[in-house]
Amino acid sequence: MNFELTEEHLMIQKAARDFANDVLKPGVIERDETQKFPADEIKQLGELGFLGMMVDPKYGGGGLDTVSYVLAMEEISKVDASASVVMSVNNSLVCWGLEEFANEEQKQKYLVPLAKGEIIGAFCLSEPEAGSDATSQRTTAIDMGDHYLLNGTKNWITNGSSASVYLVMAQTDVAKGHKGINCLIVERGMPGFQIGAKENKMGIRGSDTHSLLFTDVKVPKENRIGEEGFGFKFAMKTLSGGRIGIAAQALGIASGAYELALAYAKERKAFGKLISEHQAIQFKLADMATEIEAARLLCLKAAVLKDNHGDYGTASAMAKVFASRVAMWVTTEAVQVHGGYGYVKEYHVERLMRDAKITQIYEGTTEVQKIVISRAILS
Ligand code: CAA
Repeated sequence: MNFELTEEHLMIQKAARDFANDVLKPGVIERDETQKFPADEIKQLGELGFLGMMVDPKYGGGGLDTVSYVLAMEEISKVDASASVVMSVNNSLVCWGLEEFANEEQKQKYLVPLAKGEIIGAFCLSEPEAGSDATSQRTTAIDMGDHYLLNGTKNWITNGSSASVYLVMAQTDVAKGHKGINCLIVERGMPGFQIGAKENKMGIRGSDTHSLLFTDVKVPKENRIGEEGFGFKFAMKTLSGGRIGIAAQALGIASGAYELALAYAKERKAFGKLISEHQAIQFKLADMATEIEAARLLCLKAAVLKDNHGDYGTASAMAKVFASRVAMWVTTEAVQVHGGYGYVKEYHVERLMRDAKITQIYEGTTEVQKIVISRAILS
């Protein structure tokens, strides 16, 4: 077992860190306050190759491994978790799903511009009454011969109003349960497709989370991914990898808050000395560093398993459960280390604390991850 990162890994990590500090940091507080989508910043992220990192270069991607992706996600998330969720959804849920399961024509048409970051994509599974219980899809895609007629509502869709391509799960044959679900590639602007309300969220406020409405949208048959009825498996397989990205996002939120707390502890004086010289603060920092390191190892383990074509579903669920819990705990402690300053926006840690919570909810709640883990250990 080798814990050393390669030269290439270190280069990618540094490029992501520099981008986060130079480009994302200056406007991150304002974007959080005004719920402004980081459109220019995401465009630059795409130009640097961070939106299709793992895609084969022949489809416009970076051809990098999942370890590189985890390292980049951590660095971007330290500074701006709203930007990193856009990056995560595009890389793991949209590009990976298309590269793995779409046909050549679909890859040329959709994957290439997505991997190059020329456009971004969205993954549309959740519905008002189908969140964790994802097989209960109410959106329908009725087979009309040469096309599907799509009707229904999707909820909580990341990149909802910014995407150009939407991977939409919908029920074609209710009698077949989850085996009657298809995944359709829906383009923005198709008649009958409307972007619904924007959510006013607690955290990741720079990301645009919307509901989507489909009314008699005619989706050509050639836009179905995989065989008839493959949609639910497509979603589950894609989410298994997506959870590594969200675990890495949680890791980044935690390490970003820790680094701020560490720096603050070395500047702030109380009771005649730096607060870093008080054992109460030293023990907090020691615990934060230890928890973060454990979360990092779980994220990297899941990434290495994925790169080595191992069974990574359980490892990604474990990484997500643990890293998201660490993110909640570390960000809360980071606010505590800052005292009153931690509670105001200029010091960043209150935002990281709000951002951390979503990592226990999206791409499968903590409880869903525990279903995945417990089924694996009991089977
Ligand atoms: N890989 C491949 N197949 C899988 C799979 C996986 N990881 N997980 C399940 N399946 C298959 C099963 O084998 C089964 O197929 P068969 O009937 O052929 O055996 C089928 O899928 C149904 O599986 P289950 O019986 O296990 O289904 P379930 O109803 O018990 O649900 C669940 C399991 C784990 C709770 C699942 O529904 C789930 O993951 N729910 C959470 C959904 C989720 O993560 N939503 C997030 C939305 S996306 C998002 O948040 C993106 C964003 O914008 C940031």
